[in-house]
Amino acid sequence: MQEKDRSEDEFTVTPWEVEGDIDYEKLIEKFGTESVDEELLDRIEDVVGETHFMLRRGIFYSHRDLDRILDEYEDGNRFALYTGRGPSGHTHVGHLMPWIFAKWMQDKFDVELYFQLTDDEKFLFNFDSTLEETHSYALENAKDIIALGFDPEKTHIFIDTDFIHELYPLALKVGKRLNFSNVKAVFGFDNSTNVGSIFYTAIQSAPCFLPSELEDEDIPVLIPCGIDQDPHFRLTRDIAETIGYLKPALLHNKLAPSLDGSGKMSASRPKTTIFTTDEGEDVDRKINEAFTGGRVSAEEQRKKGGDPDICAIQNYRYFIFEEDDEKVSDLAERCKEGDILCGECKQILKENLKEFLSKHQKRRKEAEEKLDQFLMSGYED
Ligand code: TRP
Repeated sequence: MQEKDRSEDEFTVTPWEVEGDIDYEKLIEKFGTESVDEELLDRIEDVVGETHFMLRRGIFYSHRDLDRILDEYEDGNRFALYTGRGPSGHTHVGHLMPWIFAKWMQDKFDVELYFQLTDDEKFLFNFDSTLEETHSYALENAKDIIALGFDPEKTHIFIDTDFIHELYPLALKVGKRLNFSNVKAVFGFDNSTNVGSIFYTAIQSAPCFLPSELEDEDIPVLIPCGIDQDPHFRLTRDIAETIGYLKPALLHNKLAPSLDGSGKMSASRPKTTIFTTDEGEDVDRKINEAFTGGRVSAEEQRKKGGDPDICAIQNYRYFIFEEDDEKVSDLAERCKEGDILCGECKQILKENLKEFLSKHQKRRKEAEEKLDQFLMSGYED
């Protein structure tokens, strides 16, 4: 693949590659999105009666047309949520972050959620993956989604290769309008890119129009997603109206950082990623090795304090594990004061993680029996 304008920026963000120290404000400019400002935050709070810590902390920080979705909602028109996951492996804890938020949105707005599992995407883009593997991970990931407690009446999960008969007519409409030079420029494809990958954006676009198609009326769609997915939907938005549908709206989150203190948590770096299937001893080992903002010796840290801003342990707390703002800032303060050392902080997180995982794993097991309630067509035992 081509070098993707790395020249000025020290970072790269595409749906398939996230590298370097991401400047999220710069991404807003580069992608041409809007920031979620105070006014919009207040408005959401007014409409649903409360806010979510991921909004308040600026984790969901950028959007396209979220104000339009709120207008519609206030006018009594329903909208639908759409999000997805590329099943390249087991789910890691960082993946749960946007899903937990999507559940909050579903509960607060009382709307349908469509959840795409792209076994095709991961097959096409990861050279070594087989379709059997990506399909089986899709089922594994579906259990994690269900384990979060989504409402089966309103939550529709689908695996692309099982549901393609519904997606294909929509993907074709999109595919006919996207031209190669645009797709190439947006994703940095070149002549060696396989043709399945070139078509793929059409498949990820299709669910934007699925609610309207299934309900036979115009239903606006809001997509909570990582900012790395924006390039697909920018293309979708450009052509939506030409094929007779509403443009999808977007609400973007920052990517959960990994335990080694860089980039995003990635399933391809298993040592620095906590999976929902990990055992207690995995948690201990991974957290022990995590990157922190600590000093070289305990003595020096007591004297000079640590740096919570670059600390992976603190980030875990900030992004998912601690809803209470005060607790997050208290620990950060104590760290800066040299009042608490990394070992102690790690210990707290290990306990939180293990408690969370043991509950999650139990619900995940129960979810095995519920797959049929959530998966749209094509899943037989
Ligand atoms: N491409 C996404 C991934 O690799 C999966 C995905 C499909 C998605 N549809 C989506 C993500 C809609 C967010 C919103 O994870």
